[in-house]
Amino acid sequence: MNKLTLIPNPGYYRTRFTGSLVTLLLCLSACGSGSSSDSLISPNTASVANESVAADNNGTNNTNTSTEFENEIEAQVQSQTEIDNEDISDINIEANAVIETEAGNNSETSTETETVTNANNQTTSATIGEVRTIQINNVILTSLPDAIALPDSEKVELGRLLFWDPILSGDLDVACATCHLPEFGYGDGRERSVGVGGIGAGPARSVGHTGVVPRNAPTVLNTAWNGINQLGLFNSERAPMFWDNRTQSLALQALEPLRSQQEMRGDSFTIEEIEVEVISRLNANSDYQARFQSAYSADEITLSLLGTALADFQTTLIANNAPFDRWMRGDTNAMTADQVQGMEAFVEVGCAKCHSGPMFSDYALHVLGVAEATGLDTPDTGDGNFAFRTPTLRQLAFTAPYFHGGQDSTLKDVIDFYDNPENSENPNVPNDELDDDFLNMPTINGQLAERIEQFLNALNDDQFDRSKPESVPSGLPVGGLIE
Ligand code: HEC
Ligand code: HEC
Repeated sequence: MNKLTLIPNPGYYRTRFTGSLVTLLLCLSACGSGSSSDSLISPNTASVANESVAADNNGTNNTNTSTEFENEIEAQVQSQTEIDNEDISDINIEANAVIETEAGNNSETSTETETVTNANNQTTSATIGEVRTIQINNVILTSLPDAIALPDSEKVELGRLLFWDPILSGDLDVACATCHLPEFGYGDGRERSVGVGGIGAGPARSVGHTGVVPRNAPTVLNTAWNGINQLGLFNSERAPMFWDNRTQSLALQALEPLRSQQEMRGDSFTIEEIEVEVISRLNANSDYQARFQSAYSADEITLSLLGTALADFQTTLIANNAPFDRWMRGDTNAMTADQVQGMEAFVEVGCAKCHSGPMFSDYALHVLGVAEATGLDTPDTGDGNFAFRTPTLRQLAFTAPYFHGGQDSTLKDVIDFYDNPENSENPNVPNDELDDDFLNMPTINGQLAERIEQFLNALNDDQFDRSKPESVPSGLPVGGLIE
């Protein structure tokens, strides 16, 4: 767990990539006088841990020493330089927030948690972990926090056992881990998942009698940060979950797969029955009983405690040390010059309009008209109107194939999809319903596309927890029928 606590390297540094389209203008509180000069790309520290956060949008410093590559980007991008007023006003609201610090829970591993009330009286919790921001042409990119508040180790260990234990499934054959496997970045490497009745792991898993789940399994890595904004603020109780954001919080999400016939429930139980069945199985297991008693002082295991335990474990599945994060924290060698160019290109062509914040997701729904996945009985309408949530761009090296139905198998294919889009690829989605920020994408090919892909590769952290319990309290096969 050492990787959770990184020591940030404060201060500014000079990069090899000087004289650029980069505009440094956001000074979150750590920004002192004389801290910026024309030739710096300087990530700043956002002070979610400080008593107040003050944004200063003055000091625009637009240098335009162009390289050939930048000219190419500029030629291809017509109107991407306009400040996104909506985003900035949002940030001002958050940045003027009053932050009250509360003591977090007292376990050795946890850091303090803060409650932040913004101008709209919304409460947001944020860890003390520090985030770094950089502003490129008025668009803010943010590192993941360098730490997260961790539940006590007993809770985490209990949640880990539950995550790997097929005791949670109707036919005792499927665990959470069946579809969220470390070797596939906590996805399953399939276009669309197979739960009930399947045998084997990942793409090799056979399809059982309930068929294939309509959607691609997203990674659960970093889901503790779902919904995090550009200043590193987030509210774990309102964290959006699923490709259509239909559930909020890891604890509530965790109960949904149990109820799903295809994922875990199977045909032997109704939804009401499976909830009762799983809870009575757990209460009848003396190992689980003792663990819930010790971790949560619970005499009786309930559905909501089950959700909490699974959430507590998943909170530890983080990967916040990608080259991009390390570069933002001051390690100038963490990203290559090509990747730094790719980062600029990513902003310039407008990817960051949706893929924003530390997770590279705005956690909002957008209509892109991605082609329908093959073999579905009925089209996947996303939120009902063919909008899907912007997915995170972290850990993509581990989580192919991509899109909500695994429609594209490589990042190159995905980037091609964004190359000057004109028509919806989905016959159910008329062109005039496509998101404007998508339709306005410029031509993205050649070196520009390559650089963007190189930048996406700077968002992988391969040092995540891949541990698998040797056995689970039910005595059933660890991870379900994945051998
Ligand atoms: C049969 C495969 C399968 C099983 C078993 C399964 N999942 Fe999933 N998981 C998926 C798929 C597919 C999605 C996306 C579904 C959707 O968006 O409608 C998903 C989504 C999620 C998400 C949302 C991630 C995000 O960023 O929105 C989390 C968290 C998650 N699963 C955790 C779990 C937990 C915890 C369990 C066990 C209780 C579990 N899953 C069991 C396939 C599975
Ligand atoms: C209008 C908002 C928007 C813009 C702009 C946008 N994306 Fe996306 N992106 C999405 C949404 C929404 C999805 C999911 C679509 C789906 O599955 O139907 C997605 C999916 C992806 C995926 C697949 C990730 C996964 O795990 O499945 C990648 C990679 C990606 N986008 C990269 C980019 C890049 C690179 C750019 C710029 C060239 C970009 N996006 C611009 C909203 C956007």
